[in-house]
Amino acid sequence: MKIITLSSEVQVYERAEELPEELATLLKKAKEVALSAYSPYSHFKVGAAIMLNNGAVVTGNNQENAAYPSGLCAERTAAFYASSQYPQVPFTRIAITAVNSEKELSQPVSPCGNCRQALLEYEQKFNQNIEVILSGQTGEVFVIKSIKDLLPCSFTADFLLNNDVCP
Ligand code: THU
Repeated sequence: MKIITLSSEVQVYERAEELPEELATLLKKAKEVALSAYSPYSHFKVGAAIMLNNGAVVTGNNQENAAYPSGLCAERTAAFYASSQYPQVPFTRIAITAVNSEKELSQPVSPCGNCRQALLEYEQKFNQNIEVILSGQTGEVFVIKSIKDLLPCSFTADFLLNNDVCP
């Protein structure tokens, strides 16, 4: 038996005002779109803004449903729209933030496992890291260089595309 250690690097900014301008601008867009989330059940509004390599910005927010699993997170709303509109353009970075109308969020929101997996697909598709910016309503902002850092030991197409077994 041996033990392997998996580690990830997170850049911690004390507050949003300290971010480099490009990142701050994208985060502002995520904050704006969070306010239009459709979240009558959780009252938790999430916003995501994706910057693409061609400079386009695509935003999305969470869309809930009375049949709960039919809803979708902000990150996937944005990522699927970005990929549908710009199928050949890699994602440069994604900013994710949230507003909880019941309790101010003073720490960075953490994307759910499904969204990490969905975003990883685009990182792999283009073989280009997607930078991640995570914030709450106040407090620290996290910047992470790659989706891989948020999803170690992940399941990817490498497991499926095994040339040896393909007919
Ligand atoms: N939510 C997101 O939009 N993104 C995440 O990464 C975590 C959760 C949404 C889903 C649901 O509408 C609400 O937040 C509460 O879970």
